Amino acid sequence: MVLSKTSSQTDVSVHSTFASRYVRASLPRFKMPEESIPKEAAFQIINDELMLDGNPRLNLASFVTTWMEPECDKLIMSAINKNYVDMDEYPVTTELQNRCVNMIAHLFNAPLGDSETAVGVGTVGSSEAIMLAGLAFKRRWQNKRRAEGKPIDKPNIVTGANVQVCWEKFARYFEVELKEVKLRDGYYVMDPEKAVEMVDENTICVAAILGSTLNGEFEDVKLLNDLLTKKNSETGWDTPIHVDAASGGFIAPFIYPELEWDFRLPLVKSINVSGHKYGLVYAGIGWVIWRSKEDLPEELIFHINYLGADQPTFTLNFSKGSSQVIAQYYQLIRLGYEGYRNVMENCRDNMIVLKDGLEKTGRFNIVSKDDGVPLVAFSLKDNHSFNEFQISDLLRRFGWIVPAYTMPPDAQHVTVLRVVIREDFSRTLAERLVLDIQKVVHELELLPPRAVAEQHNEVGTNGRVVVCKKSELETQREITDVWKKFVSMRKKNNEKMSGVC
Ligand SMILES: Cc1ncc(COP(=O)(O)O)c(C=O)c1O
Repeated sequence: MVLSKTSSQTDVSVHSTFASRYVRASLPRFKMPEESIPKEAAFQIINDELMLDGNPRLNLASFVTTWMEPECDKLIMSAINKNYVDMDEYPVTTELQNRCVNMIAHLFNAPLGDSETAVGVGTVGSSEAIMLAGLAFKRRWQNKRRAEGKPIDKPNIVTGANVQVCWEKFARYFEVELKEVKLRDGYYVMDPEKAVEMVDENTICVAAILGSTLNGEFEDVKLLNDLLTKKNSETGWDTPIHVDAASGGFIAPFIYPELEWDFRLPLVKSINVSGHKYGLVYAGIGWVIWRSKEDLPEELIFHINYLGADQPTFTLNFSKGSSQVIAQYYQLIRLGYEGYRNVMENCRDNMIVLKDGLEKTGRFNIVSKDDGVPLVAFSLKDNHSFNEFQISDLLRRFGWIVPAYTMPPDAQHVTVLRVVIREDFSRTLAERLVLDIQKVVHELELLPPRAVAEQHNEVGTNGRVVVCKKSELETQREITDVWKKFVSMRKKNNEKMSGVC
């Protein structure tokens, strides 16, 4: 006997996935479906929707690694089911994290003997690393103040207004006042003199950035250290420094080895770095290193034993993947000092190609520096006819994701576009991007002068409505204003621009 089935009842393995009922109905978006679907259908549907995401390799907004060697991809996949926190069960993974901590601490010139182990921990990224470092400073300051019988209710931290959003999060989540040194026209990083002026007895630390998110510039940590040392000796305080080296921590040691920004400076007590930025690992790994045991209050470390043995932990999360730790170790030993230096030099060379190409157009001011994170931040010399947001928008048509944003106070009138040069951004792509930017600028120039066609109404002295033509300039200014309002709305909701990470 032959049993016939309707197409809707037959198995997806009989029909092409695209002819099955699973692709005919829209997928539930709010409630979990009652029934299961075949794995092939689930894969296809999700895979197809994800095709609408941007291409990560063309995402020039992000510092985060988008390419690794296939050998490392294999290691990552083979460790995808290991929970990092089960240290007793995966002792080799734990050992690899400790080796990474030691190597990075040496890279940052931590005062360690040859066989002395460093104090540090792997995190999900620089944000978690910064929360931990901030907590250590806060606790250390509280302990000292308590011992002196002084109040501990008003801790503050001094940074530049250019800090990444994670510092604002730290301040808000852990109730520390954020005192930001304002930027100014042409100077987009923290001014060490102003920072030190803002320090008071409640300052738990000054945070300097090695590689500002906004224009890649390295802040002058050495000058900050010198000025703060002087202030400390005058006041009797011992305000320390944290260096947020999220991007620069894996750049400066290789191409600016003489630059003193790390534990060579006595007041630098902790440093964070993102393994997933110029550490060259996919998203999900950061590091925080302390100068010495004394800089990490013991009471912040938890000891758990229910997984087998005594395990010290100082992280915000408990479970996490092991793959990124393993991948970091792979990069450190695979590339070595030589390999990292080559990658960073190559990024810097490609940055120069892009920067020169943009300068040659005669259209742009470059607001990034050659000696910093390899990125080009640039703004239009003349943004009356069209602005940076429109360029960013049109570049998407070519597949490029290049963010535009306004600078923080007091330089908020400056809008920039930013292209981050990562390892996988080749010379050919750099040259291609210059051509595409030129095309976009040309296209924007040729746009019909909307301004002339647009009109606005005004009430004349006789009470009658007069139809006036807006000048081109007026309309372009309006367009810029609308964009700026749009950006500041997003900033209000989001504090810092997403997409600039
Ligand atoms: C200077 C700086 N600090 C911190 C962060 C946050 O880093 P993560 O994404 O690793 O949490 C970023 C991100 O871009 C950054 O640029």
